[in-house]
Amino acid sequence: MQRDKDLIVGFDKSDDAGVYKMSGEIAVVSTLDFFPPIVDDPFLFGQIAAANALSDVYAMGGVPRFALNIVCFPKELGMEVLTEIIRGAVDRLDEAGAVLAGGHSIEDKEIKFGLSVTGVVHPEKVITNAGARPGDLLVLTKPIGTGIITSALKKGNIRPEDAQAAFTSMKTLSRAAAEAMVETGAKACTDITGYGLMGHALEMATASNVNLVIASKDIPFFPKALELVTSRGNRPRAIAENMEFMAPDIQFKHGMDAALQMAVFDPQTSGGLLISIPEGKYDMLSSNLTERRVRHYLIGSVVSAEEGWRIRVE
Ligand code: CO
Ligand code: CO
Ligand code: CO
Repeated sequence: MQRDKDLIVGFDKSDDAGVYKMSGEIAVVSTLDFFPPIVDDPFLFGQIAAANALSDVYAMGGVPRFALNIVCFPKELGMEVLTEIIRGAVDRLDEAGAVLAGGHSIEDKEIKFGLSVTGVVHPEKVITNAGARPGDLLVLTKPIGTGIITSALKKGNIRPEDAQAAFTSMKTLSRAAAEAMVETGAKACTDITGYGLMGHALEMATASNVNLVIASKDIPFFPKALELVTSRGNRPRAIAENMEFMAPDIQFKHGMDAALQMAVFDPQTSGGLLISIPEGKYDMLSSNLTERRVRHYLIGSVVSAEEGWRIRVE
């Protein structure tokens, strides 16, 4: 592959977005995400798709500026549905202070929608998943379980009113969380999406060459998620795939609750930020988050790299 010294974060880093330095002052953060509907309401789906796409810019410490939409759409569904999806996306872009600059649509059998988001960051203030250091604490900004809850909803195994907390979380921007993190001077972050809490934590551990110790009792889950995950029909397929792929690197305390062992692999849509923060800065981060009304959870800590495991869940 071609090399370019101005590509600060590229394909090889398994980070959230590409970062390209344009000048000594400005780097562009660029990302792309799209997926089939996970909720029935088209406006809400648009909101969630946009919050999810914007999240990768926030995770890098960037500020979103504009977006392009990616649309796959079956004509027979009617343009009103697509209009609602885009209206939902624009609603979230407005809140992010970013504009929709265009996009591309093709006809397809199934709806898919997402955005490519472009943001900016100072080239020396890029936050990556490689900045975690032993002694840091791990802070998560949203509960886990959106994959379990949306798949249970499709099967009719949860009432929509019981899924509200997950809906609200998925459409909530990580903007305030990112602002608090940047203000505190955090060096390491990723957002939790398709590989689940364990997958993205593992990417951070690997990129930073550290090990992580996570306290199971402190991991926040949406109401009903741990209950629902015990029946196979509610389990997104990615749980088993993620588990199998990561098994060699993850140790669970003997006798750990089986539901929890599955739920930590649940693929998230528009999940929270996982921030690694030096212990001495934790109080400042926590109060910066609280000031912006961002709920957050201290779930573990970073230790020196050790052979044979990367993450231990105690
Ligand atoms: Co991401
Ligand atoms: Co992404
Ligand atoms: Co990142």
